[in-house]
Amino acid sequence: MSMVYLNGDFIPLEQARIPILDRGFIFGDGVYEVIPAYRGQPLALEQHLQRLEHSLAGIRLPNPLTPVRWQQLIEQLLAQAPNTDQSVYLQITRGVAPRDHAFPAQTPPTVFALAKPMPAPPTQWIQEGVSAITRPDNRWLRCDLKTTALLANLLLRQEAVEAGAVECVLIRDGMLTEGAASNILVVHQGQLLAPPRNHLILAGITCALTLELAARHQIPHQERPITESELRQAEELMLTSSTREIVPITVLDGQPVGNGKPGPVTRRLLALYQELKGP
Ligand SMILES: Cc1ncc(COP(=O)(O)O)c(C=O)c1O
Repeated sequence: MSMVYLNGDFIPLEQARIPILDRGFIFGDGVYEVIPAYRGQPLALEQHLQRLEHSLAGIRLPNPLTPVRWQQLIEQLLAQAPNTDQSVYLQITRGVAPRDHAFPAQTPPTVFALAKPMPAPPTQWIQEGVSAITRPDNRWLRCDLKTTALLANLLLRQEAVEAGAVECVLIRDGMLTEGAASNILVVHQGQLLAPPRNHLILAGITCALTLELAARHQIPHQERPITESELRQAEELMLTSSTREIVPITVLDGQPVGNGKPGPVTRRLLALYQELKGP
């Protein structure tokens, strides 16, 4: 039976309960983080904990734990299945209080963490790529915060699912932002492009790692605004996320991307990312 962390205790998942007035339930008033771990070793833990700090600061919630304490509890969760690949989910809400939009005074946060198996992306996705659709980005203007209030993302992702696609690529004011649950990288005129990290996108850790790999291996790359027409003329497209790693997008809105197969830059980055994950 898998054990989860809830407010200081490790308990079986089936026994984990929160009160109905938790502000995470009532308002989506909380933040979360997802950390991939390969054979018991978290990848880019420091960057994930820094982003958690950024999200907490953005919703004005003090970090309930120190980085060392976070690391300890993540290690404890992972130790339950040290030989498998897992993802660790952390969530902090503003706690339990009578329903009122204004922040409650002196209310302890709810702190929850769980590790679960993380299957590798399907081989077919990697070999053939996946399809994606585009939609206008109708989310709020603080997409840099990883909040649990994800309804806009859910609706967009569901449109992709219902269109038989794997991801929904978002466009705001004629510019690419990101995917509903991933970052999007574009290969345009031989250069790997990523949208700037600002309030319109989540600063994805996998995207940052991919750009670092590009820098280390002399793959031309740049972070700059990407127009919708550059997106549609892309030679290659890929999505990145902690749980899906790097996945080629080979069909966009029913049209082939480049020659409709995963391209050389994507394949190179996929191989480099596998190395980065360790033996
Ligand atoms: C909206 C959004 N953008 C980007 C990402 C990718 O971030 P990361 O690579 O840190 O998982 C995610 C991950 O779930 C996401 O939900």
